[in-house]
Amino acid sequence: MSLRKEKEGWSEAPVGVFDSGVGGLTVAREIMRQIPNERIVYFGDTARVPYGSKSKETITKYSRQIVHFLQEQQVKAIVVACNTASAYAMEEIERELDIPVLGVVKPGAKVAAEVTRNGRVGVIGTEGTIKSQIYTTYIKEMNPEIVVQGKACPLFVPLVEEGFWKDPVTDEIAARYLGSLIDSDIDTLILGCTHYPLIRSTLGRIMGEKVTLVNPAYETARELKELLTAENLLNKKGQGLGNNRYRFYVSDMADKFQIFANSILKYGILSARKINIEDY
Ligand code: DGL
Repeated sequence: MSLRKEKEGWSEAPVGVFDSGVGGLTVAREIMRQIPNERIVYFGDTARVPYGSKSKETITKYSRQIVHFLQEQQVKAIVVACNTASAYAMEEIERELDIPVLGVVKPGAKVAAEVTRNGRVGVIGTEGTIKSQIYTTYIKEMNPEIVVQGKACPLFVPLVEEGFWKDPVTDEIAARYLGSLIDSDIDTLILGCTHYPLIRSTLGRIMGEKVTLVNPAYETARELKELLTAENLLNKKGQGLGNNRYRFYVSDMADKFQIFANSILKYGILSARKINIEDY
């Protein structure tokens, strides 16, 4: 056991959550809902987003820098709230850390393997996540019989960031992307990118009610609670009301981040601080 874990009050330390930008806020939002006593330090890499079109080497380098920054903030656990970073950098991060770390891919894959009835699962995500085949690998580990079909949907991220959550343009693009998945008769669809829960109603409508949508953000918050409980790290003390439990950092465009965050979080963000992530 590390010295830090033995430190008094360590369970009251914050959880570090990071993403390439705003998408991971859907994961932070679920953590706020499901384990409201937890403090959060969030980092959004807004200077270097998107991660979805970059190489494994680059994403691993970025993720390691962010983990160093979060460790400096004395976090007790880290949630990699980005599918692309979870797909490419988890092993490297796990090797480096002596605190619990959780990605979004494994929890999503686990639930999909459990809920599919016909053994046909679809996954949508960034080019990186789909290319890595990480969801397929995890699902097949749990049940080799399940057929997994991936589809990269690169236009969804900019549409969500533009606020086109309920818009005919998004409907049209979603219908094109999802056509091949509908044809292949999947009964479960993993929303394998942190932005996608924000267009969940559009995706659900196009896939039809027979298809179960799996939101890894929800499953990750649930697993985080289990993990913290098992490690005796669950924060049992309320840390005051509302947004003073949450701190936000970005690598660029703090104002824009703040506006987006305030549109999806229950608690208004008082400030998002810009840091130079290249220093880490
Ligand atoms: N947050 C990223 C993910 O979940 C999507 C945005 C990006 O490409 O950076 O994969």
